[in-house]
Amino acid sequence: MKLCSMKIVIWITTTIFSTQTEAKVVIYGQLGDTVMLPNEQRSREVRWTREPGRRALLTMLSNSVPSIDPEMIGRVSLSGYSLVLKDLKLEDFTVFKCHLSNYESKEYQLYQIKVSAVSATVLATQDLSLSCTVPKSDVSTIISWSDPQDQKAEGSRFRLGEHTLTVLNVSARDHGKWTCIVTYGTSKATATLFATVVDISPSPPQPLYTSLSSSSPSLLLPCSLHTRFDSSALGSVGLKAGHWSFAPFPWDAAPEGPQKLLDLSLGPQLRWETPSGQRLNGTALETDADRTNLSISRKVEEGGGLYTCTLEFNSGVTLSRTLRVEVLRRPGAQPHLHPGPLFAAQGLELKWSVPRQSSLSPLPASPHRPLQGIPRVSEKDKGIWKCDLLKDDKVLATATLNLRTERVPVDAWLVVSVCGAAVVLFLLLALVFLCVRRHRQQKMFMRRRRKTKYCRCKHPQVKGFYRS
Ligand SMILES: *[C@@H]1O[C@H](CO)[C@@H](O)[C@H](O)[C@H]1NC(C)=O
Ligand SMILES: *[C@@H]1O[C@H](CO)[C@@H](O)[C@H](O)[C@H]1NC(C)=O
Ligand SMILES: *[C@@H]1O[C@H](CO)[C@@H](O)[C@H](O)[C@H]1NC(C)=O
Repeated sequence: MKLCSMKIVIWITTTIFSTQTEAKVVIYGQLGDTVMLPNEQRSREVRWTREPGRRALLTMLSNSVPSIDPEMIGRVSLSGYSLVLKDLKLEDFTVFKCHLSNYESKEYQLYQIKVSAVSATVLATQDLSLSCTVPKSDVSTIISWSDPQDQKAEGSRFRLGEHTLTVLNVSARDHGKWTCIVTYGTSKATATLFATVVDISPSPPQPLYTSLSSSSPSLLLPCSLHTRFDSSALGSVGLKAGHWSFAPFPWDAAPEGPQKLLDLSLGPQLRWETPSGQRLNGTALETDADRTNLSISRKVEEGGGLYTCTLEFNSGVTLSRTLRVEVLRRPGAQPHLHPGPLFAAQGLELKWSVPRQSSLSPLPASPHRPLQGIPRVSEKDKGIWKCDLLKDDKVLATATLNLRTERVPVDAWLVVSVCGAAVVLFLLLALVFLCVRRHRQQKMFMRRRRKTKYCRCKHPQVKGFYRS
């Protein structure tokens, strides 16, 4: 009785087991990709066939070298007893069978995952809409996505539907391979789509520094698309116009609008032209066959300012990047950067080279600070004073000052007034002298006159007598 029930249990178990093995194994794959049809059961003989017509793809007898259908050479191989199928073609999305030597067989159903985009080429700021469709099967499927950086697509930038993904406000980082991940049972399959996002590379985080020294070359103002595209991609987004413009810093000039410097001429050969239609020679566009490098070289305006590179597209999208150009200037002997102080946080440093014989040489190291004037300029200080703006020991800009020392010029009016004062003083002294002399002469005369009286008088009268 006990044995009987055990037999029944075993029978039921094997029946369930065998019906389970009879069920088709579901495999998902993408056109052109590789899949593996798993079989762990060892066997003296393995034969893999494909529907329709049970076409024999690969046969292996007694672990010998497998014989392969000539049409399938390079596309099928064995991994253990499993079949590896490469470069999937449309005819592969069907039923496969694995025949083993004990007359057992396993069936596999291969399903195609399809990924598509409403438009696989989009402009930055536009939305990218992707969809991933999988045929219904015996197993349930869950769809998720990963972005070109292999990060799971989740967050406020993404709108997820059952089979769809919308990426809002795309930028250069969304350019690349998007992956649809289909999870079914304990397996995962992926399918990818390459999305082209046309965007301009980000502007450098730091301002561009330069000086107005006539010896320094023109400044390269970089502006380029973030990657090379095949020509059809750029054609499909429809470039309508492009320009470079300049706006001085508001503290340097009255805030007028930005002024247009150059226009993009959209002939068979892209090139930059002045607003009056004169061709700008020597730009990157002339040598760059990919038409992605919109950089220009330019002598910058005295005060520096904001240079903007703009591209307009037929769809109404405008992409632009602004470069901040700071000019190292030296009002008087004191080079400084406009505006305001240099920040140590930016890693910037000012380095002075002063004439060797100067009383200030060698200068104490004072990074981040302009030189606070030269206290008492002497003959020794004449020569070239050089100021380098450094970041990470790299010279960003240089300003030089040729200091000449001269005798302090004598003011003509000063001479006139000093001389005048001297003349007046002389005259005054002369006057005083004359007065004094005259006074003395008078005294002498008086004395002499009295003497003569006494001398001349032969009969001097006694005073007392005279009075009485
Ligand atoms: C789009 O993204 C850019 C940065 O990539 C951001 O500056 C801009 O504000 C975003 N626009 C919208 C409408 O969210
Ligand atoms: C630029 O080069 C073209 C010929 O290559 C020439 O005709 C034109 O005058 C040049 N423009 C300037 C501003 O030098
Ligand atoms: C663009 O061209 C300039 C030369 O005009 C070059 O220095 C720069 O590296 C180029 N930029 C890119 C991204 O190719």
